[in-house]
Amino acid sequence: MKSDIWNFWANKYDKLWVQKYSLKPTRNYILSAVSNIARDDNMKVLDLGCGPGELIRELENNFDNLHVTGIDFSEGMLEVSRRKNPEAEHIKMDVAELYKLRDKFDVIVCTHSLPYYKHPENVMKELNRLLKDNGKIFIGFASGNNYYDKFALSFVKLTTGPANYPSHEKFKQLVHDYFQIENLKIIKEKLYMPRIAVYTLKKASI
Ligand SMILES: C[S@@+](CC[C@H](N)C(=O)[O-])C[C@H]1O[C@@H](n2cnc3c(N)ncnc32)[C@H](O)[C@@H]1O
Repeated sequence: MKSDIWNFWANKYDKLWVQKYSLKPTRNYILSAVSNIARDDNMKVLDLGCGPGELIRELENNFDNLHVTGIDFSEGMLEVSRRKNPEAEHIKMDVAELYKLRDKFDVIVCTHSLPYYKHPENVMKELNRLLKDNGKIFIGFASGNNYYDKFALSFVKLTTGPANYPSHEKFKQLVHDYFQIENLKIIKEKLYMPRIAVYTLKKASI
């Protein structure tokens, strides 16, 4: 099963070297982006592919009024996140089953998880349904935007299994029917790291 590889990484994930130059800078950017839209009333946040829940922990530490739901198909990852984030709601679910969710969210975050989805176009359609009309999505991933990025990411794939790291053009096509791209932040902490693209999306019709 595809989640096996993530169960394997679950207890080691917080110590991986990619935390420093890739995962942590992505989280830092998302925290600052969320602070720009934070309100005083309660906000519902969905973390798609939440993994071991470090982003959930940092969101809950930085903002008092968030109700966070983390989704992941790896039980190992969810176990780690539940231990760290007893206040958050956790759901074991493949993103292919998003149609089962009934809540609407003010903010949807998805970090370093999209490349592993089998049908990302279906996920975008569901995210459009799950996002409140004035909500925002922050979605970040290593982007296969040029030959070097593709080359570097081919090594990452060896540790994760099948993955498809979208280029900017591919991502634009992927979201076109559902969302407008409001902002794109590029993170590249080291020259040898593939670039990370973090997009802010809002509903296309708003
Ligand atoms: C590279 S980790 C990222 C974890 C976390 N979001 C972060 O930024 O550190 C990818 C996560 O996505 C989850 N994932 C991958 N494909 C998934 C799917 N189809 N449905 C649900 N979760 C999935 C994996 O189990 C894993 O926890």
